[in-house]
Amino acid sequence: MSETKLSPAPRLGALATPRSRLFQPLALRGVRLRNRIVISPMCQYSAHDGMAGDWHFAHLAQFAVGGAGLVFTEAAAVLAEGRITHGDLGLWQDLQIAPLARIAAFLKRQGATPAIQIAHAGRKASMQRPWFGNGPLDAADQARGERAWPIVAPTAEPVGPGWLLPEELDLAGIATIQEAFVATAERARRAGFEALELHGAHGYLTHSFLSPLANRRRDSYGGDLAGRMRFALELAERVRPRWPAELPLFFRISAVDGAAEGWSIEDSVALARALKARGVDVIDCSSGGIGGSATAAAVPRGPGFQVPFAAEIRRGAGIATQAVGLILDPAQAEAVLEAGEADLIAIGREALFNPHWPLQAALALEGEEAWALWPEQYGWWLERRAHGLARASGAK
Ligand SMILES: Cc1cc2nc3c(=O)[nH]c(=O)nc-3n(C[C@H](O)[C@H](O)[C@H](O)COP(=O)(O)O)c2cc1C
Repeated sequence: MSETKLSPAPRLGALATPRSRLFQPLALRGVRLRNRIVISPMCQYSAHDGMAGDWHFAHLAQFAVGGAGLVFTEAAAVLAEGRITHGDLGLWQDLQIAPLARIAAFLKRQGATPAIQIAHAGRKASMQRPWFGNGPLDAADQARGERAWPIVAPTAEPVGPGWLLPEELDLAGIATIQEAFVATAERARRAGFEALELHGAHGYLTHSFLSPLANRRRDSYGGDLAGRMRFALELAERVRPRWPAELPLFFRISAVDGAAEGWSIEDSVALARALKARGVDVIDCSSGGIGGSATAAAVPRGPGFQVPFAAEIRRGAGIATQAVGLILDPAQAEAVLEAGEADLIAIGREALFNPHWPLQAALALEGEEAWALWPEQYGWWLERRAHGLARASGAK
């Protein structure tokens, strides 16, 4: 049964003239985002053999219903062995397209731009799901049927003591993985996604080539900044011509390692310039993760803690940036855009907490007119409830 038969196409309201920057549409190549709010990629560790299931549909659907402009899937692995955990989403084979296509179609019908992040976990592959320990797979995981598998990295160095020792990639291995990214990008297009992000952050394969803390190679994929950037730049060079010219390409980086002798913000500006020259449209500015757990940024965390990275890269490289990290309220998001620090605002955990955050932000920043943005199935009731409550409190 097709999704079309299940539900009529919704009427999608729009603001005549948005007052806020957050609700200004944004054109990226041939794609028009209805606002500047992005749902950040968030692994659910709930796939079987990489296949999206009902959980993924419900999880992502709620964000489109909630009014986001662009909704990213979690990292989808380009190869089975490139998964972080046994539960990662994957798009390494055609079989995995159909459930993602259903999700992409639903997001689009709700007015959101469907987007996908694609990734290879490198030396952070073969890990436990967070709730089973967030470390290397152990005997308890094996008893559940989740065995460790061999992993690869730029250098044969584990993430830390007790972690799996990766095999150092040779040139053929590098080319195979890059081709897997290209093939996955093509599958993503067939699934109907309209934006693609290459995951180059959080200590996974691409980041581990970039960072001097993980890449100790002496060949042309290591050494100086140019050598360490080579894998990332080749990835963009290979993927861009095979991803439609009218669709945007995002690249997520860890803007800093947050450790002495690590990857720096100056390195990120240089990388962003080089990626821009290769057709990347947006730099998604995260941080940290080169050792330890994926999202453990080694920089002090507070509201908007990574916004300065987005600002510096935007200024220094002249490329659109996406800010992310503890962006929690609409006024804060609006201030980031107003200050010219970023072009897009990504929210992660706040969207898990409140999937309707964008629609509530619209009411806060745009006023009554923003009821038009709510899906009629909800908005019809909630607008009347709000007016009734206002009358009731005025009558007191
Ligand atoms: C459950 C969860 C899963 C995540 N999975 C990914 C992922 O697949 N890819 C990625 O680049 N970042 C991932 N992240 C990081 C988020 O995209 C985001 O950058 C981070 O949570 C900071 O934003 P926030 O403070 O709004 O949550 C994940 C974060 C969470 C909480």
